[in-house]
Amino acid sequence: MVKVDLSGAQPFFTAAGPDYKLAELAHKTLAEGSGLGADFTGWLGLPQRIKDTELDAIVAAAEKIRGRSQALVAIGIGGSYLGAKGAIELLKPRPGKNDPRVFFMGNTLSADALNDTIEALGDMDFDVNVISKSGTTLEPAVSFRIFRELLVKKYGDKADEHIFATTDARRGVLKSLADEAGWPCFVVPDDVGGRFSVLSAVGLLPMAVAGIDVRRVIDAAIKEFKALNVRSPENPAWQYAAARQHLYGKGYGVEILGCYEPSFRFMAEWWKQLYGESEGKDHKGIFPASVEFTADLHSMGQYIQQGPRMLMESIVRFTESRTAYPFPADEGNADGLNYLVGRDMSEICRVAADAVRDAHVSGGVPNIVIEFPKRDEEGFAAMVCFFELACAISGYMSQVNPFDQPGVEAYKKNMFRMLGKPGAV
Ligand code: PA5
Repeated sequence: MVKVDLSGAQPFFTAAGPDYKLAELAHKTLAEGSGLGADFTGWLGLPQRIKDTELDAIVAAAEKIRGRSQALVAIGIGGSYLGAKGAIELLKPRPGKNDPRVFFMGNTLSADALNDTIEALGDMDFDVNVISKSGTTLEPAVSFRIFRELLVKKYGDKADEHIFATTDARRGVLKSLADEAGWPCFVVPDDVGGRFSVLSAVGLLPMAVAGIDVRRVIDAAIKEFKALNVRSPENPAWQYAAARQHLYGKGYGVEILGCYEPSFRFMAEWWKQLYGESEGKDHKGIFPASVEFTADLHSMGQYIQQGPRMLMESIVRFTESRTAYPFPADEGNADGLNYLVGRDMSEICRVAADAVRDAHVSGGVPNIVIEFPKRDEEGFAAMVCFFELACAISGYMSQVNPFDQPGVEAYKKNMFRMLGKPGAV
């Protein structure tokens, strides 16, 4: 179970503290489906639903790809790639001997990035998983045309056998293409928005190809959502949502999410999309940023300690380290580090994290610690369920619709007009 420690935020609270009554109402509204964007709250029951219907097919497709290819090109953008990328970096930062490499494309329009990936693919056998709920997003569509062409060059009339689509059950260009060509098609449910879709085929197929045990993820997520359904201030999702909204009300407009595991970096990107796209609207919302500690203590540390006092800090920690490394003794002690002998690297890291927290709190940065059990399938599931639920509660607390993203259309309109798309104005 997730634990939230607010002791480093407490000194910055007013006497009334975080508004748990409002968190309770937000949770109730979400569970009853009576709030803004209620048509997009299907992610709450997603793990159970996917287990009953699609999981076997996802695992079978992943096994097929693992058995014949050294690479998967997963094509998608935003919610159609960040969760899978975050999961793979967190749980499988280096592929095992039998794990295909997963390349993420369709998240950029850079010619250089495209050519770099094609070069890295070299003559590897590969499959493509094209992921787009709408089926019309420009970046993945452009990328898919290119990789489809490469598949045809490599496999000729067998190219279609190397394509897996993940899209809407009924609508969109991708769905029509898939039906016409007979590609296996996985579904992004109607009631699940992109950034809440990591526990659907969107995230699960690339994760399974990378060697992550997605059955374990789903079983853990079912338990986790159940555990997070407790309706009291003991609920860690309430604690996190209410604390950050309380601090926001006091002028802390930027939240930096930090972690001492470099492998967490892309989970922070996933979190930034989840919170930024869900809350940043109606001219309000906490700006989500991220740091990787201890590396960024030597770049952003100065700003955090002494810059403008608008930052709150949320630190993700794991109760248990996955591995150990005892610090070695050195007879000469020329580097003066023998005072660390007898300690494990994981302990040194923990002490550093405590020291940083104390320094930042004394410097005027409210600190929230979110602790997950372990960096494994269960830990990942706990992280997704916790952050998704807290995001929805936090969004409802600030009276926005956490499930839409009307603001992202503005650039698209300009881009399509400037690129000369027929009918674009
Ligand atoms: O959260 C969202 O809905 C967005 O970030 C989408 O995931 C993103 O824009 C990609 O959309 P699509 O899957 O339709 O290509």
